[in-house]
This record gives sequence, structure tokens and C-alpha cells, in this order.
Amino acid sequence: MMEMTVHTAAPYQILIARGCLDETGPRAAKLFRANGKAMIVSDSNVMPLYGDRVEKSLEAAGITCFRFTFPAGETSKRLSVIEQIYAALAENRFTRTDFLVALGGGVVGDMTGFAAATFLRGMGFVQIPTSLLAQVDSSVGGKTGVDLPQGKNLVGAFHQPRLVLIDPDTLGTLPPRYFADGMGEVIKYGCIRSRNLFDSLAQSRLTPDHPDLERVLYECVDIKRIVVEHDEHDTGERMILNFGHTLGHALEKLHNFEVLSHGEAVGIGMVLVTEAAERNGITPSGTAARIRSLLTLYGLPTEDPSIPLSDAVAATSVDKKSLGGSLNLVVLSELGNAVVHPVPKAEVPAFFGEGTR
Ligand code: GLY
Repeated sequence: MMEMTVHTAAPYQILIARGCLDETGPRAAKLFRANGKAMIVSDSNVMPLYGDRVEKSLEAAGITCFRFTFPAGETSKRLSVIEQIYAALAENRFTRTDFLVALGGGVVGDMTGFAAATFLRGMGFVQIPTSLLAQVDSSVGGKTGVDLPQGKNLVGAFHQPRLVLIDPDTLGTLPPRYFADGMGEVIKYGCIRSRNLFDSLAQSRLTPDHPDLERVLYECVDIKRIVVEHDEHDTGERMILNFGHTLGHALEKLHNFEVLSHGEAVGIGMVLVTEAAERNGITPSGTAARIRSLLTLYGLPTEDPSIPLSDAVAATSVDKKSLGGSLNLVVLSELGNAVVHPVPKAEVPAFFGEGTR
């Protein structure tokens, strides 16, 4: 069992252990009022798998449980579903001292966190991420929110969970493409902060039943913890978590979020930005090739032949990281160390080699 504390304004514990779903009740009982209520929020894929276990653990600790299940998928990540969660909380007379439990992947975590951030002006919630992507990224750090028809994650709040329970056993039920999706973010952590992690991922192929899985999860979450502690509200260092995301988001968007998974798009984005940074003399040559071969080992694509680079670069002009006159690109000074590199907007096409390729 591995544990760490995230020292944000309101500190919280993260527990990483096989089988820790059954710890939900005893852990929550220490944080929330005795004989309180919990609303377990999950989707139609995950609730049938783990809802009973989590509920049993909470009920055994004296907590009365309610459930809210919504259809699995990004299309559920909208305000009308949040309104339904509010209604379920209000009808069951939840108070600020009760809490929500986010049981599922990134969509579940973002939505439950947003409902918790806003119902009664804020109540506590527990994150139980069940996808690799959510375990290493979205369940930690307090970014919550929903999509609007105009764009993804346009409405949200920073609201840290009170507890995160990461049970690696839940990854065994994921379809292989979802595991690979999370590996895109795992590889990102190696690139931005840990050469050792990067090398270990190349030495032995990580799988859901690999003996090193817990250690790798711990390393990724620990990197995220440190970055979030330094920059809880995403005004500086936290930007390095977006390595590969600028072009990755652009590709996802150009495909209408229907072709590439997030991790696949981020992987291609990491390769493209690193190739450009090599040409601009920022990243040592050969780095992009190493990232490419690690992505390939994990079944992730390294290019998107259907979208010209110029279209992806043009789409970055509406990126959230493109405020003011520059685009804040995250690049590697070397494998294992990311830095923010502002590029004046007018120079972005040249940075990516347009006109020279
Ligand atoms: N997923 C990036 C962040 O939490 O800042």
C-alpha cells in the first residue's frame, strides 16, 4: 500500500493499493460526519462493476448511500446532467456535511467534482478513479468541469477532493485501448520529470497485472502532486503537464473528438512538438525518436497522416494556453525535464517548420 498527502490549501490523502475500493467506508468515516450520506456518482459502465462494493463498504461504516448513474461517454459531460445530480442531492436532502463519491473515469470525476464544487456552494467529494488516465491525471489536482456545445471543459471550478482511492485492480477490466490511452499520460510524466520512469517503461512493458504497476502509478501521481502543490490554480508550473497537449488537443478537435483518444492525441502531440523543438535547437536530437518508439511499444500512434501539420498548427491559435501574444509551448530541455517556451503567435508556424517542409 502506498500513500501520500497533497499539500494544497486543503490537504488530502491519496491511497494507491490493490483492493482499496473496500477502504472507502473506513477512510471516508474519518473525514465526514458520522451517520452522514454519500451519493455515489458513476456511469453505466462502471456502476454495475464496482457500485455494490463501494456501497457495501460505506454502509458498513454507517454512511447511508444513494446512487446516481448516467450514460457512459463524453456526451454526458454537460450541464443538464449536472442539474440532474443537483436534483438527486436536493430530493434526498443532502447537506454540506454529506459528500459525493466519483466512481469512474475522467468524465465521472470531472462532473462529480463540479457538482460537489457548486451544490450548496461546495461540499466534499471522494475520487475513486477506475481508468488509467483518471488514476494518473484527472483525479488529482482538483480540476472539475463540464463541456459546452462551444467547447470542452469551458465551465468548471478548482475543487480538490477530500480523498483519492486508486485501486490498480480496476484496470484489469479496461479494454486494451483504454489502458493504452492512459499510457500516453504515463509516458508524458517520464518525458517531463523522470528519465528513470521513461527508461523503466521501455525496459519492461507495463500491463494491468504487472508487479511494477503500483510503483509506476505512485511515481506519476507523485510528479503530479508536486506540480499541483507548486501551482494549484494553473498559473505557471502546472503548464508542464500539458506537454503534447497543444497539438494533441488540436488534433482531437479537428477529428471532432471521435477518432483519436486523448492519450493517442497527446502521444502524437509529444512527438510533433519534440521534433519541432529539436529543429529549433531546444531539445537534443534523437529525443523524438525515443518517444516515438516508446509510444509504439504501448500500441499508441505516433503520427496522424489524415491531418496536415499546418491545419493542426492553425488550430492551436484558439488554444487556452494561447493567451496574449504568445503560445506557451511545453518542450523538453532534455528527456526528463520540461520547460515552458513561449513562442510569439506570428512565429508559431515557423517554429513547426512550416515553409521549410
Ligand atoms: N491535466 C492537467 C492538469 O491537471 O493540470
